[in-house]
Amino acid sequence: MAELKKDDKAVDQPADATPNTTEVEKVDAATAEEAVAAIEAPVERGEPILQVRNLVKHFPLTQGILFKKQVGAVKAVDGVSFDLYQGETLGIVGESGCGKSTVAKLLMTLERATAGEVFYKGQDITKLSGRALKAVRRNIQMVFQDPYTSLNPRMTVGDIIGEPFEIHPEVAPKGDRRRKVQDLLDVVGLNPEYINRYPHQFSGGQRQRIGIARGLALNPEIIICDEPVSALDVSVQAQVVNLMEKLQDEFNLSYIFIAHDLSIVRHISDRVGVMYLGKMAEIGTDSEIYDHPTHPYTQALLSAVPVPDPDARDRRERIILTGDVPSPANPPSGCRFRTRCWKAQPKCAEEMPLLAVPERFKGSDSPAAHESACHFAEEKDVVHA
Ligand SMILES: Nc1ncnc2c1ncn2[C@@H]1O[C@H](COP(=O)(O)OP(=O)(O)OP(=O)(O)O)[C@@H](O)[C@H]1O
Ligand code: SF4
Ligand SMILES: [Mg+2]
Repeated sequence: MAELKKDDKAVDQPADATPNTTEVEKVDAATAEEAVAAIEAPVERGEPILQVRNLVKHFPLTQGILFKKQVGAVKAVDGVSFDLYQGETLGIVGESGCGKSTVAKLLMTLERATAGEVFYKGQDITKLSGRALKAVRRNIQMVFQDPYTSLNPRMTVGDIIGEPFEIHPEVAPKGDRRRKVQDLLDVVGLNPEYINRYPHQFSGGQRQRIGIARGLALNPEIIICDEPVSALDVSVQAQVVNLMEKLQDEFNLSYIFIAHDLSIVRHISDRVGVMYLGKMAEIGTDSEIYDHPTHPYTQALLSAVPVPDPDARDRRERIILTGDVPSPANPPSGCRFRTRCWKAQPKCAEEMPLLAVPERFKGSDSPAAHESACHFAEEKDVVHA
């Protein structure tokens, strides 16, 4: 990732100024007009724009062919809470199957939540419908992982990028669409003359730029990026990440950035949340999570990151996790990480640890004083890079 350049972040929040969750100022809109007005109202930079509270998504497990009977549920997301601040990037990391994409789909209202609330500017989007929901959907867009399958091969680039205007003609009237699409191509660094080309005529990196242009078409305020660079070559990853940072400044965007690659997430994120088996294990600023992790799971994840410096590599401790990730249909009692945690004690099986600043760090200005869902949270020097 040599080409990555860490710019000054849009939101320069001190480590102790970003609580994971803040009080929700609910907006009681009596009419659709009031709801739309609340959704379109600007939010100050650094204020919460999205407030997720106890979000739950259980997928039913059924048995039988003719008469389907529910025999259980996959607890894909099981009580997740966090805030997204205007202008920031919140990274979400965690092993495959921990529920990252399900969180993304719930925020996009592509899936219906089993329980919990998602407040966008004070409006609970899990309960909206009609015009208000349409307005929210315009403002929260998504960039998908695989630029090879997420673009329709039979549509021209112009039609792909301009497709959102069919649903939201108010953003670009018919006569203005071609020019608008060409502007978007230019913004993402593609030649506006490529408007009539098809996806197969582009490289992977260029296709992801097309995906980003489509995400930008409706002037959204939030973009949820689910593994946006995972399918790309390493050198191209850096270009796309740098483009996303440039666009964030230019268009005042807030990002949720989901990825497996911990170094990319650190590079782009202001804050990072670590998920394990449907729950948030730890959340804090990038420095709190990467330099002062207190949750054993985060420590194990970080200890597996390749370290380029051979001396540092020799000095550091690798934590090898044993055992498989338990099934989300039958998660362990108490702490979900206990079956793989080297620090587990009887209390871990009995009591579920809450995501909170550990008691021993409360009131301290230590970077370890961030939210961690562990009964025995403490710092461990795992990365010396
Ligand atoms: N529509 C669905 N029906 C049933 N189970 C589902 C559905 N979608 C996701 N799941 C399950 O929910 C869990 C979380 O899936 P999710 O795709 O959110 O994980 P993820 O963290 O995004 O993983 P990855 O890193 O591999 O993309 C998994 O066990 C998955 O099998
Ligand atoms: S609560 Fe117990 S099992 Fe869970 S992470 Fe902490 S020490 Fe490990
Ligand atoms: Mg996923």
